[in-house]
Amino acid sequence: MKKIKIAIDGPSGAGKSTMAKMVSKELGILYLDTGAMYRAVALKALREGIADNDEKALEEMVKDIDIRIEYDNGQQKVFLDGEDVTEKIRTPDVTVGASNVAVVPGVRQKMVELQRAIAAENSVVMDGRDIGTYVLPDADIKIFLTASVEDRTRRRYEELIEKGALTQTFEELKREMEYRDKNDSSRSIAPLRKADDAILLDTTGFSLEKTVKMILDIVKARVNNAI
Ligand code: DC
Repeated sequence: MKKIKIAIDGPSGAGKSTMAKMVSKELGILYLDTGAMYRAVALKALREGIADNDEKALEEMVKDIDIRIEYDNGQQKVFLDGEDVTEKIRTPDVTVGASNVAVVPGVRQKMVELQRAIAAENSVVMDGRDIGTYVLPDADIKIFLTASVEDRTRRRYEELIEKGALTQTFEELKREMEYRDKNDSSRSIAPLRKADDAILLDTTGFSLEKTVKMILDIVKARVNNAI
């Protein structure tokens, strides 16, 4: 049977991972969180004392990096060189570091290789910044999910409170979001950009339920055509 590829791109905090998880569950296909891979690279660099703008050292470091994403009862687990780093890649330091290491050409090349290898073997929904434009330009469905920076910050803030993991003020989170928007959109290689053939969904002011329903409707209609 034909493998289905779904790309969900957009800025930080737009709800990509929530939507991608729902879609993967609904269709029974793999979900790959590509941001988690850049986060694992940033964590390794932090641990090894490599600056997140030291291109040479980062390119050397990723040559033999082992990043794996596995699922345990539907929960995503991220492994870095065999160690479960699922929680450790969500700190503010790693968040900003991930956006910085993602600018480095050799880092992107290695991550994209890993991502394409997974897509070649599986039906998959991937979320990220460059999936529809670069990683999977032939994806069957491309969605570009966005919302205002206030809305995205508020959602992230509430999510962190719910998890008991809030370590920043609303203003700090908003500044981090704006920094990443600028960094992720202005880099020269595979910047955050809506693919020409992606469906744009601006979810400012929408509830989670409404967004999920819109995405599932789009996906179900398209998947029936794609198979
Ligand atoms: O989706 P996230 O917030 O976990 O991603 C962390 C960083 O990784 C993000 O700021 C930019 C980078 N990234 C990227 O450059 N390309 C992707 N496909 C996914 C993430």
